[in-house]
Amino acid sequence: MRAAAISEFGGPEVINVTDLPEPLIGPDIVLIRTAAAGLNPADYKIRQGRMTERYPHHFPIILGWDVAGVVEAVGPAVTDFKPGDRVCAYARKFCVEHGTYAEYVGVVEESVAPAPESVDLAHAAALPLASLTALQTISALEVVSGETVLIHGGSGGVGSYAVQLLAEMGVTVLATAGEQNSGFLEALGAVPIDRRGDVVRQVQAVAPGGVDAVLDLAGGPEAVKATLPVMKDGSRAGSILLPPDLGDDGAARGIKGRYVFVRPYGGQLADLSARVDAGALTIHVHDSFPLEKAADAHRALEEGGHRGKLVLTVADI
Ligand SMILES: NC(=O)c1ccc[n+]([C@@H]2O[C@H](COP(=O)([O-])OP(=O)(O)OC[C@H]3O[C@@H](n4cnc5c(N)ncnc54)[C@H](OP(=O)(O)O)[C@@H]3O)[C@@H](O)[C@H]2O)c1
Repeated sequence: MRAAAISEFGGPEVINVTDLPEPLIGPDIVLIRTAAAGLNPADYKIRQGRMTERYPHHFPIILGWDVAGVVEAVGPAVTDFKPGDRVCAYARKFCVEHGTYAEYVGVVEESVAPAPESVDLAHAAALPLASLTALQTISALEVVSGETVLIHGGSGGVGSYAVQLLAEMGVTVLATAGEQNSGFLEALGAVPIDRRGDVVRQVQAVAPGGVDAVLDLAGGPEAVKATLPVMKDGSRAGSILLPPDLGDDGAARGIKGRYVFVRPYGGQLADLSARVDAGALTIHVHDSFPLEKAADAHRALEEGGHRGKLVLTVADI
């Protein structure tokens, strides 16, 4: 099968589109014929060799963790899916080797969900990892209706879902992004905050009483620490980058911080897929690239400036 793979760590130029063996099917495996693979920053971090402390890596590595396509075959223990079903998955495995930039992907049944019926499979491929991260971070911080939440990084993959999920819950959302993306943030349901301006002053102007929670989806510990002045006493900070550093001031004020690492739960993904079909969640695909242009897709993702997600198209299904 055709696949975009690396045999060494490095820049986008180490990605080769080549022929590799199709995945084998174990008892719990759903074999997906790939229509599209979603891109995530984890893909280029793996390509750069920055994830070796987190996972075993086996070369050649087929990159990619998000997939949407049609079920080709299932293992004998699989009960919820059958050949022909349109599905999507966050296909993270314990070992980095058999990713989703390929014509076929084997995924354990627990990570698979029905693809939204109302969108094409290229959009479905942009849903899994980022929307699950947004949902699980919101859930970890126990955000509830009526609260005010500040998001660092609202315009990217995870941010574009987090803003929508929070706004839908009845939360007042303030989100940082580059100034060029302020209209996009407003359309998603957030009050835009220019991340290159004085973030604290901008937040104080909108939420003079402070915010109940901060989601760090892009800025890192420095961004969270810089916004401690707008966090209420007893508020929560959640980061998907690094554990938040709240310092002595944060601890003294009862502000709690935690790190969230997304898990590949198919049941939650099915719920997110249903929200797309209900019109409550929109998948924003900024650009798509054919599989053969995977290196260009990585360059675009690393460069930034996108609104929502980037995807690789693999087959016209
Ligand atoms: N822990 C986990 O399980 C987990 C899961 C998913 C992702 N992640 C990580 O979370 C990060 C975001 O993922 P993503 O998929 O949303 O990436 P993405 O689609 O590339 O979006 C990131 C966006 O953040 C903005 N940004 C960049 N630097 C910023 C800064 N200093 N302050 C505020 N905003 C900034 C940029 O938009 P503007 O140009 O508009 O500012 C950029 O488009 C990545 O590092 C990724 O690896 C972790």
